[in-house]
Amino acid sequence: MESYETVDTAVLVLGAGGAGLRAAIAAAESGARVTVVCKSLLGKAHTVMAEGGMAAALGNVAGQDSWEAHFADTMKGGKLLNDWRMAEIHAREAPERVLELERWGAVFDRTHEGLIHQRPFGAHTYPRLAHIGDRTGLELIRTLQDRLVHQAGIEVHMEVTVASLFAQDGRIAGALAYRRADGGLVLYRARAVLLATGGAGRVYRVTSNSWECTGDGTALAYRAGAELRDCEMVQFHPTGMVWPAGVRGILVTEGVRGEGGLLRNKDGERFMERYDPDRMELSSRDIVARAINSEVLAGRGSPHGGAYLDISHRKPDYIKRKLPSMYEQFLKLAKVDITKDPMEVAPTIHYYMGGVRVDPETGASSVAGLFAAGEVTGGLHGANRLGGNSLTDLLVFGKRAGEAAAEYSREHSRPARISKAEVGEAVESLVGPLGRPHGENPYRLQAELQDVCSRHAPIIRSESGLLEGLQQVLELRERARSAGTGGPTGRAFNPGWHTAQDLGQMLVNAEALFRSALKRKESRGAHARSDYPNPDPALANVNFVVREVEGAMSVRALVREQLPDALLAVINRSFEKYTPEEKE
Ligand code: FUM
Repeated sequence: MESYETVDTAVLVLGAGGAGLRAAIAAAESGARVTVVCKSLLGKAHTVMAEGGMAAALGNVAGQDSWEAHFADTMKGGKLLNDWRMAEIHAREAPERVLELERWGAVFDRTHEGLIHQRPFGAHTYPRLAHIGDRTGLELIRTLQDRLVHQAGIEVHMEVTVASLFAQDGRIAGALAYRRADGGLVLYRARAVLLATGGAGRVYRVTSNSWECTGDGTALAYRAGAELRDCEMVQFHPTGMVWPAGVRGILVTEGVRGEGGLLRNKDGERFMERYDPDRMELSSRDIVARAINSEVLAGRGSPHGGAYLDISHRKPDYIKRKLPSMYEQFLKLAKVDITKDPMEVAPTIHYYMGGVRVDPETGASSVAGLFAAGEVTGGLHGANRLGGNSLTDLLVFGKRAGEAAAEYSREHSRPARISKAEVGEAVESLVGPLGRPHGENPYRLQAELQDVCSRHAPIIRSESGLLEGLQQVLELRERARSAGTGGPTGRAFNPGWHTAQDLGQMLVNAEALFRSALKRKESRGAHARSDYPNPDPALANVNFVVREVEGAMSVRALVREQLPDALLAVINRSFEKYTPEEKE
């Protein structure tokens, strides 16, 4: 058999975005020995794409804000499909996590009184987004990274990709990985494994997601026996760049609309009047994305199939201070000076609301010792995430999951067994593509998969499209079994080999997306269907849960636990502010 290095650790954290870093800090502070494994370099994470801010009811700009209002907005935005306990924990604990980040050195924008400044964002009742210009995610990563490197008990393994997890009798045992730099294999033995690998936005062609976002965590968890939930819920951020073609999909922060940016169609009309006259540009993302889509379909789109977003009515100095990245991005990439001219924007895939089904208090999955936090999980955001909730999600639940994983590792100090046969099988599958240089080209397969998802699971879906999409995903899955490396078989930095690994994970995510979307025969939040254009009251309390049963993917309907009366009352009190569509 191939040789491999063995690393023994108490808590193995996969992913070094915000959730992974916060979880690793928490686990180490709890006394556990922690190993963080990341596909990229430390500090380079998709978290930086949450630009506009982190949502927390600090009440610095609007004193009447409260955790209750934040909770109600999150549930309302998620069309009540959320795990209510996660939404409650998130709203209650987000302020303290933001203040903690400030104590750790994050340099927030300030109010005149010197408090952390908060800007308005879509579907948040009050200005709630603590921010650092439009570089909030970057500052969050920088701050956590600084804290992490000064924390004893944490080792970081960069440019390492995990290919499979091992579980023994329903308990997690470790993971098999390989180093990009030299192709060396590593067997991690761990008491607890914590997934913080982010979403699967790369299964689409037009996306704000970076190359790492191939849904590794959800696929690994699924294969290890964990449950996934809400896999049909994929968020189109309303505003990505559209032109030039090479930059299509790059995020245009919602912070632009938070700072007063106006959306117009080609006739100069503020079309949000038609879709959400109360909240206009600051409606929830699902509604704004569908509105732009409708304008384009009605022939009122911009030249490259989008809409215009205009902030030029604000003072140039203000724009450069509050939106420095947007200013530079448009100037450099599109030769547009946003202090003078509108941006051309269109929806882009941004976020996976679905993911690993976890215990709201601890992030524990249904596999003992396997924890998850951040975008890789499902539950907090329900059918549609509000902008800014992801950064506080990863702080709140990263900390909780890190602490729980540390505690689990203390209580299970003897590692679970990993059999030689299992390792052998996993190694064989991992190195397989290297022995098939002229097998199916993984780049082509990945591009075809992106086309299938983009074409058959778009903003507005239909039964026939979803069925066709699922069929094509299953065909691609068969072809992927013979995927090679597309040429070179050397192991060091072999992009074809890497792509073949990513492809396997993406296929699980795509299959879960199509199978779940077929089950949800209604329109709710990010999941809109032309053949079922309205919400079905019978599905209001139902989440679809995906699991592997005898080697095949099964989807079951799970009826959610009722909201406690006190929380229901909190939501009902805020109901007068809902748009007619959301009241359904
Ligand atoms: O538009 C944005 O700045 C993205 C924020 C988020 O996804 O939370």
